[in-house]
Amino acid sequence: MWDFMSTFSSVVPDRKPNPLLDQQNIQKIQPYQRLAAYYDSLMDYIDYDTWVADIKTLVAPYEPGKTWLDISCGTGSMAIRLADEGIDMTAVDLSAHMIDIARDKARSTKLDIDFSVGNMVDFASKKSFDVIINLHDGLNYLLETSDIELFLKNTYALLKPGGILLFDVVTPLLCQTHFRGYREIFNDERGGYERHTSYDPNSQLAESVFTLKTDNSDTVDVESHIQRAYEQDDVEGFCASSDFEWWQILDDESLEQPTANTERFIVMLRKSE
Ligand SMILES: C[S@@+](CC[C@H](N)C(=O)[O-])C[C@H]1O[C@@H](n2cnc3c(N)ncnc32)[C@H](O)[C@@H]1O
Repeated sequence: MWDFMSTFSSVVPDRKPNPLLDQQNIQKIQPYQRLAAYYDSLMDYIDYDTWVADIKTLVAPYEPGKTWLDISCGTGSMAIRLADEGIDMTAVDLSAHMIDIARDKARSTKLDIDFSVGNMVDFASKKSFDVIINLHDGLNYLLETSDIELFLKNTYALLKPGGILLFDVVTPLLCQTHFRGYREIFNDERGGYERHTSYDPNSQLAESVFTLKTDNSDTVDVESHIQRAYEQDDVEGFCASSDFEWWQILDDESLEQPTANTERFIVMLRKSE
């Protein structure tokens, strides 16, 4: 896995100056550590209900059973909606902070979801699943082809025969369009964050640096989130070298064949019966 501590502030050459990083003491912390508390505000513009509807439409022709796994569940927004529709949900995320928030959210809805901290490349379970989802850029956190191969091997093993793996992939076009020199400031009573993003088309690496104030005014916490964008050829290659026998790559807006304007792929793979 990528060690962001050793590469921090050097992977993406078009990084814009951030005065907060220059003037204050920095404590480097893990991705989705303090940002976890702000994640739902950050994703406020996402229509999770439409995502749930689209996923159900995509898998419906295969009539999958109701045992599902969300393998990068974040704060549980998808898992909670799916459980509310009667799906038996298991949900995993690398960040214990995201899982804590997901558990709190589910508790307040009284839904029974099996949450745990885990890594998508080696998460193990006694259960087998009808559907595994990994949505909103989770796969782009895998920076090495070898990690994507492990992810596909692991999910194949976790699926029942006929089971479906469904994930999305952010493309270089999306990063070129939205990640170059983007800056966002979010303030609230908890202190808020400042986000600076950058993108290097050569390496296809995108970096979002979140700076968060601490109780000590001389110090800021910094989370560096590094993701790799993938082209359709990259994704085709990953699918072709996996154990899955069938797959489809779609545009996330039209749910049809991708075009030159596709910013995000939806990838669906199926294990043979
Ligand atoms: C952009 S968030 C998406 C969260 C959620 N799927 C959603 O739709 O809101 C990406 C998530 O992937 C998680 N993640 C990153 N690498 C991971 C890994 N190797 N295994 C499991 N989760 C991972 C992060 O902790 C984060 O919660």
